[in-house]
Amino acid sequence: MGKEKVRWGLIGPGRIAESFAQGIAHVDEAQFYAVASSNIERAREFGARYSAQKMYGSYEEMLADPEVDAVYIATPHRFHYDNIKLCLQAGKAVLCEKPITVNSKESSELFALAREKKLFLMEALWSRFLPVYDDVREWLDSSKIGRIRLINATFGVNLPYDSSDRWYNPELAGGALLDMGIYPLAVTQWILNENPESFNVEACLSDTGVDELTVAVLKYKSGVIAQMNAGFVAEASNELIIYGAKGSITIHSCFWASTQATLETDNKKLTVTRPFKASGFEYEIEAATLSILDGDLECKGISQEDTASTMKVMDEMRARIGLVYPFEK
Ligand SMILES: NC(=O)c1ccc[n+]([C@@H]2O[C@H](COP(=O)([O-])OP(=O)(O)OC[C@H]3O[C@@H](n4cnc5c(N)ncnc54)[C@H](OP(=O)(O)O)[C@@H]3O)[C@@H](O)[C@H]2O)c1
Repeated sequence: MGKEKVRWGLIGPGRIAESFAQGIAHVDEAQFYAVASSNIERAREFGARYSAQKMYGSYEEMLADPEVDAVYIATPHRFHYDNIKLCLQAGKAVLCEKPITVNSKESSELFALAREKKLFLMEALWSRFLPVYDDVREWLDSSKIGRIRLINATFGVNLPYDSSDRWYNPELAGGALLDMGIYPLAVTQWILNENPESFNVEACLSDTGVDELTVAVLKYKSGVIAQMNAGFVAEASNELIIYGAKGSITIHSCFWASTQATLETDNKKLTVTRPFKASGFEYEIEAATLSILDGDLECKGISQEDTASTMKVMDEMRARIGLVYPFEK
């Protein structure tokens, strides 16, 4: 790219955008340059708090700013496709919140567009970049727990029922699978570097028609079974445990945002704690930023193929539980 720093713009300064803005301040090669909101007051307030240089009252205006190199998208799922397309058409690199789109049809089209325009496009699956995941990777690569046979992961929180909130809202592509189930799926894929050969899935749908509790059992050719639970009806352990022939690895709660993992072999336990520098988003931002500076079109930590595979599994799971969003019909 021939630059020393990537100047980031942000679209959708809501809840999770706070974590991005806190994290980016700890990445030397990145600058939080601009923020765009459909509401200029929201952009001004957010931008002032995090010392952005530019605040815009529309996404198009920010994308017309030639100083913006890359954009982080933090809007609800339903809007990712349109937002990403707008950014790519404006010639910007993109890091988009999970899930990258609502379904595979949308993501395949955008990956093709990004390739055609030679632009970076990445799903912001931040867990894969957390420091404690480096320890887990080292334990797995050195076969500390032997052959992996079982993975157990739960993402369960108790969210008060509110039909207008994005979690329950079908118009915003709400539901536990796309919001939370994506973490056990994407982390399991990272652990095994393999896609499931088959799965069973069950779900309870809420009054609004989105899944409020989804449970799946996935089988892998290598002889591994993964059990995943995702829901917003009850608080859960929120751990991810990998069982092997010689021991186990636990990524402690909340596994998708973890700072701690334990290796247990021969009745001996080794626990490592890796605190974040800031919100924890700094690691994915650093990975994305360095990839962009290197001229890469995707991030080594999460390839577009990985994202596409998880998206396909979620498509198929939704088909089986009968969850079609109104705007997909
Ligand atoms: N990585 C993580 O740990 C994590 C955690 C939570 C959420 N997320 C992901 O982050 C994304 C955003 O979630 P969030 O909870 O932060 O969203 P949010 O606070 O509800 O909304 C963020 C922004 O999206 C736009 N928006 C919200 N509702 C809208 C609507 N009905 N119509 C049009 N625009 C709307 C608004 O942008 P304007 O200001 O431009 O109007 C808003 O500021 C989702 O993809 C979610 O899955 C990730």
